Amino acid sequence: MSIKLNRSTFGNPENKGNLLSREAAMELFNEWVLNPKLKVHMLQVAHLMKSWALEKANMDVKSQWMWELSGLLHDADWDQWPEMHCIKIIEHLEYLQIDSEVMHAIASHGPNHFGVEPINQMDKMLYAFDELSGLIHAYSLMRPNGYEGMDIKGVKKRLKEKSFAANVSREEIQDAANRAEIPLDELISFIIAHQAVVTA
Ligand SMILES: [Fe+2]
Ligand SMILES: [Fe+2]
Repeated sequence: MSIKLNRSTFGNPENKGNLLSREAAMELFNEWVLNPKLKVHMLQVAHLMKSWALEKANMDVKSQWMWELSGLLHDADWDQWPEMHCIKIIEHLEYLQIDSEVMHAIASHGPNHFGVEPINQMDKMLYAFDELSGLIHAYSLMRPNGYEGMDIKGVKKRLKEKSFAANVSREEIQDAANRAEIPLDELISFIIAHQAVVTA
């Protein structure tokens, strides 16, 4: 499914620094997303974004929340309005006068689908985590001990196995790592180490 957004700027620059409170974000999340599996995915990506902002990018607390928020809401409209994926959540965040950077990160989480290029580090990390996080989670579900003892080698085997999580595009995973300029191994080990704490 490809929905081109046909635009590359979002929101109003005057809203810089405006973010949803955690409470408001969770309310929106719970209202819009009903599918429990999708919820886990979005919470995992949110947690990865926050952890990366904190541990690797040395962001301040507010920026950590902006990264987390972008992850938390990136698929907010996918469950109930798949034909409006990205469009609906972006319009809603524009209406709420949220910082443009959040909308831009959401808009560029699949450049091949939405036609919006990831530009800054937050955009690139959201793109880099999205599909890889899903594949690694799928792998954890088929292992007897879940994330325990999971290693990079095992994940790379699954990446090579085309029939495993066949809907996850290997090309996109590599493209995202290239754009973020982070070795795939580093992304994989970061995801293994962090996302196990978020479960159904
Ligand atoms: Fe998506
Ligand atoms: Fe996603």
